[in-house]
Amino acid sequence: MRVPLVAGNWKMHKLIRESVEMVEALIPLVKNASGVEIVVCPPFTALSAVGQALQDSNIEQGAQDVFSEPEGAFTGAISVPMVLDTGSRWAIVGHSERRRVFRESDALLNEKLLAALDGGLKVMFCIGETLEEREAGEMEHVLERQLTNGLQSVPADQTGALVIAYEPVWAIGTGVNAEPNQAEEAHAFVRGILAQQLGQTTADGIRILYGGSVKPSNAAELMAQENIDGSLVGGASLNANDFAEIVLAAT
Ligand code: PGA
Repeated sequence: MRVPLVAGNWKMHKLIRESVEMVEALIPLVKNASGVEIVVCPPFTALSAVGQALQDSNIEQGAQDVFSEPEGAFTGAISVPMVLDTGSRWAIVGHSERRRVFRESDALLNEKLLAALDGGLKVMFCIGETLEEREAGEMEHVLERQLTNGLQSVPADQTGALVIAYEPVWAIGTGVNAEPNQAEEAHAFVRGILAQQLGQTTADGIRILYGGSVKPSNAAELMAQENIDGSLVGGASLNANDFAEIVLAAT
C-alpha cells in the first residue's frame, strides 16, 4: 500500500556537469527498479540541467528547499513556480541543516510546506531530535512539536503529496545510523502523532522515510521495518553505485 521512496539529498555538492554525469550513471543502474519511487535533489544551480537529463527516466527530481512566497522582493529565495519550472516535482522542507544553520523556525517551515503543497509540489518534510534532546528524554516531545507546528493547516486533500522524513540529527553525516528497532520505534510514534492530527486512515497512507547515515550495508534492514517506508540519503546518494544499491534494497 505504501510504495517505498528512496531520495538522495546531495546538499551543497556537485557542479552542473558533475550533477548531470551522476544521473547519467544512475539512470541505467535503476531503470528496471520497480515498486519503488526514486528522487534526486541536486543543488538549485543544477536543477534545470538534471531535470532535462532525467526526462524519460523513472527518476524524479526535487529541490532541497523552497520559499513560501510565489514571487517578489526576496533576495536569494527560490519560489515554488521556479522549482516546478526546472522539471522538479518535489521539495525537501525542514531539513535539520535548514533548521539549525539557517535558523528556520517551525512557523516558517509550516509556511513553506503549505506553499509547496498548494503550488503542486510533493514535499519531504523533515523532523528529528538532536543527541542532547534524545539524552534528555525529549525525543517524543520534539517530534510532536515539529509535527504539530509544521503540519498545521495542511488541507486533507493535499496529504497525498506529503512524505515525512525522520532524521535524527545525531545520525546525519556521522556514520552512526539509528538501529533499525530504534528507528522503527520513532517511526511508529510519528505515525501515531500523524493519526491524531490527520486521522488513522490518512496517517496509514503517509510514507515515513528514515534518514541519517543510510548506506548500502544498512539500507535493507532499516527499510524492512514496518513503519519505515524508504530513506532520505545524504552522503551515500552522491555516488551512483551506492545510491542505486540503496534503491534496489527498497524493492
Ligand atoms: P546522511 O544525510 O545520509 O549523509 O547522514 C542524510 C540527510 O541529511 O538527509
